[in-house]
Amino acid sequence: MRSEYSMPMQDLLVIGLGYVGLPLAVQAARAGFRVTGYDARAEIADGLMTGRSHVDDVTDAEVAETLGRGFAATTDEARIGPQDVIVICVPTPLSAVGGPDLSAVQAATATAGRLLRPGTLVSLESTTYPGTTEEVVRPLLEKASGLSAGLGFSLAFSPERIDPGNPDYGFANTPKIVGGVTPSCADAAEAFYGKICDQVVRAKSAREAELAKLLENTYRHVNIALVNEMAIFCRELDVDLHDAIRCAATKPFGFQPFYPGPGVGGHCIPIDPNYLSYKVRTLGYPFRFVELAQEINGRMPGYVTERAAELLNRSAQPVNGARVLLLGVTYKQDVADQRESPARPIVRKLRGRGAAVAYHDPYVPAWQVDGEAVPRAADLAAAAAAADLVILLQPHQGYDLAEIGRAARLVLDTRGIVPKAPGSRVETL
Ligand SMILES: NC(=O)c1ccc[n+]([C@@H]2O[C@H](COP(=O)([O-])OP(=O)(O)OC[C@H]3O[C@@H](n4cnc5c(N)ncnc54)[C@H](O)[C@@H]3O)[C@@H](O)[C@H]2O)c1
Repeated sequence: MRSEYSMPMQDLLVIGLGYVGLPLAVQAARAGFRVTGYDARAEIADGLMTGRSHVDDVTDAEVAETLGRGFAATTDEARIGPQDVIVICVPTPLSAVGGPDLSAVQAATATAGRLLRPGTLVSLESTTYPGTTEEVVRPLLEKASGLSAGLGFSLAFSPERIDPGNPDYGFANTPKIVGGVTPSCADAAEAFYGKICDQVVRAKSAREAELAKLLENTYRHVNIALVNEMAIFCRELDVDLHDAIRCAATKPFGFQPFYPGPGVGGHCIPIDPNYLSYKVRTLGYPFRFVELAQEINGRMPGYVTERAAELLNRSAQPVNGARVLLLGVTYKQDVADQRESPARPIVRKLRGRGAAVAYHDPYVPAWQVDGEAVPRAADLAAAAAAADLVILLQPHQGYDLAEIGRAARLVLDTRGIVPKAPGSRVETL
């Protein structure tokens, strides 16, 4: 149901101009908002002001277009005036002990508190545990502004659902969930997001909206762990898991395919479910599904290394001194984002056993692991032919997998998609 909320909304401040904040700024500027971006890092704000995008899903041309619509990015809070809408899109990493680190959310909320005026809508988009908007953000805003949420200003949670590199679903056509701390806050959030995306889904409150995001990510995390664990025993049982998944996926209801791989990466899947297990632990018991998924997915880089050693051993080749080429070192295919990529622990483990590791990735011009450069192969075909073992991690679209399978002496295909031509030595996980 569309909201009747009719507050004028023209000035929008986006706090945190990363993978979530920048696409929002672009979309809102297109929808007619006067958008200001505030980021704590000067290189981000300065880069955007010179028309440079640092985010996969936003092109330099889109940054230029957004600047042309009046967008300005700054690190100087003093240059920003009061706002109609403030959206917080800052990171929510894990602390040193593995719990939530809400320091960026708290700092951004302090900024928002100083810039809100009566009637402002503040929306938190950073992924976090249920209760954060109500229990952490609300008191900070009320204290800074002297206003009450639901009366003096509006406060909502709206999870971002961006799938980097997805050609079909982007900002506008992915339904946007909103949850207000009061019904009038939800009205304001629904009115705002209704101007920049096609469909707004209203949650019962901010807590349900917070949980919805964690449910989505936990669902992926657990199902990926399921097939990763199956990949390990299916090989020993001599069952082709990929073929079984292909068959199961023909069921028109009740099944969604997930595929095994070298481990989970990115900012969401390996991190967000911990926010939920942290919250559950405050009740005095563990969230066992998440902890098990974490354990299984976290072991995959070690399993890849073990398989690599086993395959080399079958060719009478020790890992020590072997030339190993990694293909695709980002956390998923067709993006440049390397956050939490499983490629990093794989390099660490292979190096620890004496392998000479090189990589190829069209999205990564230079790469270091633990401060030591990993040599980059410029000529893929030549490097694949020269390596003792090629490990396919991310099957970027530009890769001719059939050609790689033919050129390489030995391939460990962690995705199960390299064609096995007669005479080629392609092994799956
Ligand atoms: N990347 C994704 O695909 C994705 C998808 C859904 C949800 N999320 C969630 O959205 C949030 C943001 O993620 P992201 O990927 O955009 O992170 P990011 O690291 O790409 O961007 C965050 C930006 O916030 C800035 N920042 C940090 N503290 C700040 C502060 N106090 N004031 C102003 N700027 C500050 C950083 O400099 C950075 O540029 C996280 O909670 C994440 O879990 C991310």
